[in-house]
Amino acid sequence: MMFEQLNKITEKPDLYCCYTAETLWNDSYISRQMLKNHLNPAEDLASRKLNFIEASVAFMQKRFMLREGKTVIDFGCGPGLYTTRLARLGCKVRGLDFSANSINYARTEAARLGMDIEYLLMNYLDYQVPEAFDLVTMIYCDYCVLNDNQRKLLLKIMNESLKNSGFIFMDVCADHMYQNFMEGTTFEIVEKDGFWSAECHYVFKTTFKYDLNRVSLEKYYVCEKERNIEIYNWLKHFTIAELNRELKENGLEILEVYSDVKGTPYNTESDIMAVVIGKKGIFG
Ligand SMILES: C[S@@+](CC[C@H](N)C(=O)[O-])C[C@H]1O[C@@H](n2cnc3c(N)ncnc32)[C@H](O)[C@@H]1O
Repeated sequence: MMFEQLNKITEKPDLYCCYTAETLWNDSYISRQMLKNHLNPAEDLASRKLNFIEASVAFMQKRFMLREGKTVIDFGCGPGLYTTRLARLGCKVRGLDFSANSINYARTEAARLGMDIEYLLMNYLDYQVPEAFDLVTMIYCDYCVLNDNQRKLLLKIMNESLKNSGFIFMDVCADHMYQNFMEGTTFEIVEKDGFWSAECHYVFKTTFKYDLNRVSLEKYYVCEKERNIEIYNWLKHFTIAELNRELKENGLEILEVYSDVKGTPYNTESDIMAVVIGKKGIFG
């Protein structure tokens, strides 16, 4: 019955009931839309706008004294918008991403520019750490899409990837973003050439809040003629204290907080929090 079907599509799922990032970033059609979004210099979509990226690399260069000989590993590097610029500073750079489309683009671009950047096509949660780096980055809040166990595993991997004197630089969703997040449902009919499909399709988007965990969910139920796709975009939001607690439990701690990865001074009205992290106890 239609009523039961609609009820099921729009009901609130259990927290972290499924992880659909693979579909989002690797489905052959959707991942091509994602790559287009990454490469759109004028919009904050899969990557941020180009002028923001330039400013953020300039900030990183200054803050972390990036130059010839420094080593950087970028988790979730996408098509290499940061890695390319970090390598241009003389850094030895490794980028990890599980989107084949993005890594193919990044490798082709590095070859075209004659740049020696190492790209690994893999799930960063499976990364076996062979050596430590001066700087570990994860940009555009990808840390927040992971569930509690995945974040713990990632922090272990990042910690092992970090030299004693090194830094992790990443951004996360802040409490302010959570407070403004609205629950609701929308329905859309797309004739063709949409974000989710080239064919005619229907999209139900339902949004939920999980107050105890400060997690939001955007759930997409996409109905095509031949298949249905479900995408769950979870986002964990942090206060400084909560993020620091999570880091300390994993041998790390916050050293500095900004409002974004281009070094804007932190203010509590910011939706984003960018943090410089070091190994616990090393920086006094
Ligand atoms: C929001 S995009 C940000 C890309 C890049 N950091 C930027 O700002 O331009 C997140 C990236 O993380 C990658 N990603 C998500 N989950 C991943 C995982 N478990 N393993 C490897 N890559 C992942 C996606 O393929 C995507 O390229």
